Amino acid sequence: MAALASSACYLALPGAAAHEADDVDIADIDIDAQLAARMAAQETVRLPSSVERVVVAAAERAPLGELTKILEGDGELSASILRLASSPAFTGTHGERISLPYAVIRLGREGVRSVCLTASLARVALVPGPLHALRRRVWRECLASALTCHALAQVRALPADDAYLGGLLHDVGKVAALLAVEVDHPHITGPSDEAFWLEVVERHHCDAGWIMTDRWLLSDAVQSVTARHHLPSGGDPLHEVVQVVDEAVARARRQGWQVTAEDIGAIPGVRSQDEAMAMRIGLARHPYFLEAIG
Ligand SMILES: [Fe+2]
Ligand SMILES: [Fe+2]
Repeated sequence: MAALASSACYLALPGAAAHEADDVDIADIDIDAQLAARMAAQETVRLPSSVERVVVAAAERAPLGELTKILEGDGELSASILRLASSPAFTGTHGERISLPYAVIRLGREGVRSVCLTASLARVALVPGPLHALRRRVWRECLASALTCHALAQVRALPADDAYLGGLLHDVGKVAALLAVEVDHPHITGPSDEAFWLEVVERHHCDAGWIMTDRWLLSDAVQSVTARHHLPSGGDPLHEVVQVVDEAVARARRQGWQVTAEDIGAIPGVRSQDEAMAMRIGLARHPYFLEAIG
């Protein structure tokens, strides 16, 4: 059986690892050095053991029944699976009642892995903490990116599950880096503006993301795009998808999440009206995910 990489990780819950009782002004700390040390030690978000078992089972292409058994042992996780599988996000209808085995069949092996990662990362991303509001904003953009990448990949006939995970995880290192700051300094004061913190995590999120995608045994394509998405694509199809979707998500956020297919069609790298329409539809699905899993 494949084993997860044995890198040192922590479940990032601000307060749980707190060792500071008093307020600390962030200006007095070399935050980049601390984050770099975390990354060098491969310390980043650790997921519940049930999710890590799902990740391994998916990598090994285990039977769906095995995935169902793992999920049955984690009530919170299976509830998330049922909510998502029966939500409009996955073409279900609100209020539809389905069984866990049927939800697993509906989602498929890769879909179950994606939903487990999404649901468990949502729990981590939305935990209370001094930088919660910014984490929530970054997390929303991760979800929007995942669904938009998935939609664009379908038009381009690329592997849609890799595209979903590439979109979801390419910037999730920002969430991990923010949490690392909060775990080390649960009472931080000082710069409170989002721009300051986004600049800090911009410098570390690719390293953090790569550590996570490597640990979770994801495909080379997903690992590569997570680590390298701010570099030229070199013609890599998934890399191109993530980069063009990044522009679309940034535009959507600036416009209060109100974008038309025409807005998206004007973004460099969008090749056709079909692509713009698909991306618009993918983006419009993310509120359903937020509602279903937070
Ligand atoms: Fe990024
Ligand atoms: Fe991004």
